[in-house]
Amino acid sequence: MAVVDLREHTEEFTANPYPFYAKLRESGPAHYVRTHDVEEMLLIVGYEEGRKALADPRLSKNWRHFERAGEPETAMSANMLEADPPHHTRLRKLVTREFTARRVEAMRPRVQQITDELLDAMTEKGRTSADLVDALAFPLPMTVICELLGVPDLDRDRFRVWSNEVVAPTGVEASTAAAQEMSVYLAELIEDKRCSPGEDLLSGLIRTRDEGGDRLTSDELIGMAFLLLVAGHETTVNLISNGVRALLDHPEQLAALRADFDGLIDGAVEEMLRYDGPVETSTFRFTSEPVEIGGISVPAGKAVLVAAAAADHDPARYPEPDRFDIRRSTQGHLAFGHGIHFCLGAPLARMEGRIAVRSLLERCPDLAADPAGGALQWLPGLLIRGVRKFPVRW
Ligand code: HEM
Repeated sequence: MAVVDLREHTEEFTANPYPFYAKLRESGPAHYVRTHDVEEMLLIVGYEEGRKALADPRLSKNWRHFERAGEPETAMSANMLEADPPHHTRLRKLVTREFTARRVEAMRPRVQQITDELLDAMTEKGRTSADLVDALAFPLPMTVICELLGVPDLDRDRFRVWSNEVVAPTGVEASTAAAQEMSVYLAELIEDKRCSPGEDLLSGLIRTRDEGGDRLTSDELIGMAFLLLVAGHETTVNLISNGVRALLDHPEQLAALRADFDGLIDGAVEEMLRYDGPVETSTFRFTSEPVEIGGISVPAGKAVLVAAAAADHDPARYPEPDRFDIRRSTQGHLAFGHGIHFCLGAPLARMEGRIAVRSLLERCPDLAADPAGGALQWLPGLLIRGVRKFPVRW
């Protein structure tokens, strides 16, 4: 079967992968592709097949099922997004004991306050332009996840560099080094927390035990802290910036939202997730046995990626998928995944997205993209979809 070489589609594809995915989907819901990192893997671009694959227990999250297994392991690999049941079930259960809806809801006034403070700083003293990523989209989720975990003094600049390198690698060496440095840093952070615990989530995770007395090991704590810190901000930053960009590109949708924030903001955020969500493809899955996907027989040991961005633009699921329409039904979108790995942080991300977008638009009634800020720089790789900077003016 022909292998589609994605290495040929660098800049143009990264800036706007949707036409390419649409073309690929016309000739089938799944295709073998080649990237800089993986010689041959299956990319799923159809909605039905993508949704099915995300919930298929034969598609393992554990790297040991990969034919090219042997990637360097760090303590951070002991995280639930890289685990299958029963290990995944155990980790997810232990974290959900602490990461409760109540804990998230209790953050609401603080999320609003942080947003307001960031907007105060952004618009202070007659300033009329800013990089929205730097001013709001990055610091909001980063501050929120740090406060939730109880690490307010995290070295954010250092952490941002490592974390960017992990989710959108600029090279194998740089990303391996970043992962190792981050692992050492997190081990120290957890030791500090052990010595001076509080009421925060990380202290809770260190303390927690289930009915059987089970608790997280040191490596599992590092893996959990890594996953929550990275997943907690790398994605939400792009929900805010991709979402605001979509609104500014569609003035009639923006005007409708401005006219009825109460009625439309929730739907607008869901449409932002569907139309141009932060997670372009799911994380890797590996066939633990031969599997048939979208009419293709896939042997054991192959890597499989579900392109959520492609699936959520499948016209068989969402009519006129390339139309940004904040009133459409977005039910079932795959921006937060599906199945047992469905995003643990979805309620928090939704809350942050709604508060950030609404507060920004209320604060800046004439918000616009700032062409003087230069061309947009897209994050490399297939995992995360977003820009490094988003210049805006008001
Ligand atoms: C708009 C923001 C976000 C998006 C689009 C997003 C998206 C996703 C997706 C697609 C997955 C599943 C990946 C897969 O199956 O391969 C996932 C898993 C996960 N997310 Fe999020 N996420 C967001 C925000 C957050 C936040 C704020 C947190 C934490 C505070 C978080 C924590 C997690 C965790 C822990 C998992 C793994 C769950 C598991 O393996 O059971 N996410 N997320």
